[in-house]
Amino acid sequence: MENFTFHNPTKLVFGRGQLENLPHLIPDGVKRVLIVYGGGSIKRNGIFANVQKKLQDNGYEAFEFGGVEPNSRLSTVNKGADYCKEHNIDFLLAVGGGSVIDCTKTIANAAKYDGDAWDLVTKKVEPQDALPLGTVLTLAATGSEMNAGAVITNWETNEKYGWGSPFSYPQFSILDPVHTYSVPKDQTIYGIVDMMTHIFEQYFYRPTNAPVQDRMCEGVLRSIIETAPKLINNLDSYEYRETIMYAGTVALNGMLQMGTRGDWATHNIEHAVSAVYDIPHAGGLAIIFPNWMKHNIDVNPERFKQLSVRVFGVDPSGKTDKEVALEGIERLRQFWSALGAPSRLADYDIDASKIDLMIDRAMKRGPFGNFNKLQDEDVRNILEMSL
Ligand code: NZQ
Ligand code: ZN
Repeated sequence: MENFTFHNPTKLVFGRGQLENLPHLIPDGVKRVLIVYGGGSIKRNGIFANVQKKLQDNGYEAFEFGGVEPNSRLSTVNKGADYCKEHNIDFLLAVGGGSVIDCTKTIANAAKYDGDAWDLVTKKVEPQDALPLGTVLTLAATGSEMNAGAVITNWETNEKYGWGSPFSYPQFSILDPVHTYSVPKDQTIYGIVDMMTHIFEQYFYRPTNAPVQDRMCEGVLRSIIETAPKLINNLDSYEYRETIMYAGTVALNGMLQMGTRGDWATHNIEHAVSAVYDIPHAGGLAIIFPNWMKHNIDVNPERFKQLSVRVFGVDPSGKTDKEVALEGIERLRQFWSALGAPSRLADYDIDASKIDLMIDRAMKRGPFGNFNKLQDEDVRNILEMSL
């Protein structure tokens, strides 16, 4: 393993009815709370009204900032930061999925910075302070509720980057599986693909001694694989929603990546695709990740074989490592397709016409990937396989 220090300060408050605890979770001294949300799903399903009432009944002044887009945009972050400054907001409450939470994290930092939030996202400027924030998660997918990462799109320049600051950890996150009942089937599928890909990204690390981490990744993956098809056929099941919600958080709160350095190349390529075409993040992942696997199989076939056997139940007898590996990739593709995830960029009407732009955006910060460093021609090959 590599040396590491693990510290995750987010208080996780999980289960049915946990919104009751909201007032106890907000830090002392806070008076003016800004509820940040997306396109209005929380108004339709009643979560907004419950949150607002909880705040008002407990003496807080509740403000609202809605309209955060899926793949949250820089322009909205800057508007949110201005709103905080104008209204002297002292606490941010994100109520939504990953896009709302990422936007809120970036607003929190930008509210204490006198400039364009893009300076923070591009790491030109290091934040010195931020407003505190909490979250009420409504979609199981990104893990943003318990990490310091945020992904922001600059639609004017077609760039989408992940960034983070020590101030970006939510102080608390309330996870009630009931809040995810209204998530439609397609977004539920995307969430499942996203959390699985987060685990895969961490599973493909540079060679190092990490058998415990491997088994943890494999265990979470197997639980998701067992539960996902049942959930897709029964979207109102508390039990299945609960399992998937917990899996999504564990997948990206740092627990699985201690002592290793995950690959994350697929995420980098997908962010370039959705920066140019604004497609759902995990739709892109479902298309790209199996092709990343095929492209990298010869880097370490044994690693792919281990995943195939332990997670996808491939029988290795009489087969080469590469054959076992390829069978596992095929099973993953079939699993995602059976759930209803896309498998080609053509499913989003994306052709080769902007492939150079996507490669350029993926390469903006130089060669990437910790399992295997990818150059221009690698990204081109993976994208061409994905068309
Ligand atoms: O906007 P609203 O009205 O809330 O509707 C959303 C949106 O249309 C809807 N939704 C959310 N909760 C719902 C609901 N609809 C009905 N009932 C509910 N309870 O779902 C749609 C998608 O929401 P979004 O927040 O965009 O999805 P997701 O959670 O998948 O987040 C995607 C964003 O997170 C970034 C992605 O790149 C993308 O920008 N990521 C963030 C990460 C992180 N911070 O750690 C890691 C990820 O890899 C990812 O890159
Ligand atoms: Zn993701």
